[in-house]
Amino acid sequence: MKKTGQPTQTTAAAASMGISEPVGNVVSVTALHESDATAVAALEREYFQPSWSENQIRRALGLRHFRILGVKNANGQLLAYISFFQVLDEQEIVNIAVRSQWRRRGLGQALLLAAIREGTYSGAARSLLEVRQSNIPAIALYRKCGFSQIGVRKGYYTNNNENALVFELKLTPATQI
Ligand SMILES: CC(C)(COP(=O)(O)OP(=O)(O)OC[C@H]1O[C@@H](n2cnc3c(N)ncnc32)[C@H](O)[C@@H]1OP(=O)(O)O)[C@@H](O)C(=O)NCCC(=O)NCCS
Repeated sequence: MKKTGQPTQTTAAAASMGISEPVGNVVSVTALHESDATAVAALEREYFQPSWSENQIRRALGLRHFRILGVKNANGQLLAYISFFQVLDEQEIVNIAVRSQWRRRGLGQALLLAAIREGTYSGAARSLLEVRQSNIPAIALYRKCGFSQIGVRKGYYTNNNENALVFELKLTPATQI
């Protein structure tokens, strides 16, 4: 099993990032901890409705089967994160978000691949997630990373009665990512 808490170096188009604190040519994906709950909750509030509260995130981070990976800039500001459960042989991706000004630079893909890698090393047989059917960027990201649609949950999102598409990626120790 891969040792958690160690930064995972993932190549991405970071060199071209026109942001004040570029992270260099490599994106470092790192495990987040309870001390990061405030920053994760701020992104949750900004991008998800409903969203997880800071307390929910802090409590979840104390669970053995829950993980959040993130990308921070040189000042320690959280730019992106992915959260997931891993129970027995199933990984469930809960949320992934990239700050809007940092999108289309490979951060979402780097995080998703890092989560898949953790799932694979931990013995998961498949990775599952749900996504709003209108969320074109996220659906494109999941398809690019090998996920396939396996179902629809009608009216799953109660704030607007939107359908959720269920995506799956089968994982094997040989999964190439
Ligand atoms: C979905 C999200 C995480 C993608 O993050 P990102 O860092 O911009 O994605 P990447 O730059 O890694 O893109 C990887 C691939 O995803 C696809 N993709 C990402 N954004 C896209 C867009 N706006 N339109 C079409 N395809 C897109 C492309 O295939 C892209 O590969 P390419 O750049 O070689 O074409 C980001 O848009 C986001 O945070 N959205 C708001 C939160 C959200 O909806 N999360 C999903 C919850 S289910």
